[in-house]
Amino acid sequence: MWDCVAQLLVWLLQKIAITHKMNGAILDFAVLQKPRQQKHSSPKYTCKYRMSNFFCAAPWRGLHINPQGDVKTCCAGNPNMLGNLNTQTIEQILNSDLMTEIRTSLANGEPHEYCSNCVKAERFGADSERRWHNNVNPNFDYATAGDQYHYPVIVDVRWNTTCNLSCNYCGETCSSKWASLKGIPFKSGARPYYDSVCDFIEQHYEHIHEVALVGGEPLLLPENNRLLDVIPTDAIITLITNLNVDLDSNKIFQKLSTRSNVGWSMSFDNIGEQVEYVRYGASWDLIKENLSKIKHLMTTQGHWGGIHAVYNIYNATRICELRQFAEETGTTVLWQNLFQPEYLDPFLHGAGVAKEAIAEIERFYKMNIATPAERQFFDNALTTYCGRLSVDKVSKIDVDFWKHIQKNETLYHPDKAGEFQRLWPELAFLCK
Ligand SMILES: C[S@@+](CC[C@H](N)C(=O)[O-])C[C@H]1O[C@@H](n2cnc3c(N)ncnc32)[C@H](O)[C@@H]1O
Ligand code: SF4
Ligand code: SF4
Repeated sequence: MWDCVAQLLVWLLQKIAITHKMNGAILDFAVLQKPRQQKHSSPKYTCKYRMSNFFCAAPWRGLHINPQGDVKTCCAGNPNMLGNLNTQTIEQILNSDLMTEIRTSLANGEPHEYCSNCVKAERFGADSERRWHNNVNPNFDYATAGDQYHYPVIVDVRWNTTCNLSCNYCGETCSSKWASLKGIPFKSGARPYYDSVCDFIEQHYEHIHEVALVGGEPLLLPENNRLLDVIPTDAIITLITNLNVDLDSNKIFQKLSTRSNVGWSMSFDNIGEQVEYVRYGASWDLIKENLSKIKHLMTTQGHWGGIHAVYNIYNATRICELRQFAEETGTTVLWQNLFQPEYLDPFLHGAGVAKEAIAEIERFYKMNIATPAERQFFDNALTTYCGRLSVDKVSKIDVDFWKHIQKNETLYHPDKAGEFQRLWPELAFLCK
């Protein structure tokens, strides 16, 4: 689960933070084959078809650390390959023999096994993280780059998963609140490697260009407080937040408020009582209050950003009210598909959900406020729903959905007992 969301966040970070033009090379291959195992020499993947210019600056210029302490040079890099800060120093990991091998491979324009996520993403023409790193490091000279790590230009350090919410589509790998509700041990507090990572970043202060603050909930991670002191004042910061924190007393928010290059990705996908049901622990009043504070920073400090909405079964019949709210507050909405679980994916339910969702998209289109990106997103949704209109049997997905509601309303969020049927009467047919 974590890796899926982590990858998806990179897509989002690129959307929010990157406005540079693409200069990435295009792959001219379709299939990759795994070759015989070799040690620290040439790449472990070779191409069946020739691929050209698979260059990437990340192995020299990126830094990514996940909540488990795995070091990578980029979110997309294979997490199991480089090393972990609980057993090695950051310098050891970034200048290991394996890293040297990866750099040699990419300096020759050839992907390494470490890069399989970017290879897969690009195989069908999708964006990959590689493009982000190359855009942020224009004029990177592979001929003179050498085989040692340079310095971090893009920094994405996810200290831990501390979070105050247990959103219905999230889970224990991303949220400490979910871990505690499920009785799963959660390692809180600063990691032992925290100071050495900050020291490392500070040593390369002048090179840091973009910093992602994710989480858990990034405004609740005190580690981000020092991180903000060891990066340049003009670094681009992208924050993905649940907006459910008292901003007036929040030190991280106070530091962000004095900066000018800050992008806000504000996660919510419903309004009112529905958002309080889905993003459990959230307060709609607090979201509105905090949104107006961020909007103020957009006007006075040049910050940017908008609502980051996950399209899921809880809002498939409530697009209009969210978009009306966004319109009234002058806020943009970036839609993204749900990653998992399947039973919350409206596209996987049957004709009943499809009919309701189609009707809602039609109502939304009649409002005449859909942006071109929304048109594209919801036109695709309409096509998918049309293919579901003949599916009229109760499926495993429907059954799992109802089990999910019952479990949440009895075990995890008992104060919400009976609330799904009250708040989504149009989907009451799923409750059986
Ligand atoms: C894991 S959260 C971390 C940051 C912060 N806690 C927040 O909610 O914005 C990052 C983003 O992942 C999204 N997300 C969580 N679960 C998801 C899922 N199953 N599918 C797609 N996106 C998901 C959240 O809505 C949020 O925008
Ligand atoms: S190609 Fe992708 S996975 Fe490989 S180093 Fe670059 S960003 Fe990381
Ligand atoms: S706010 Fe919600 S989506 Fe973000 S980490 Fe917490 S539970 Fe997950």
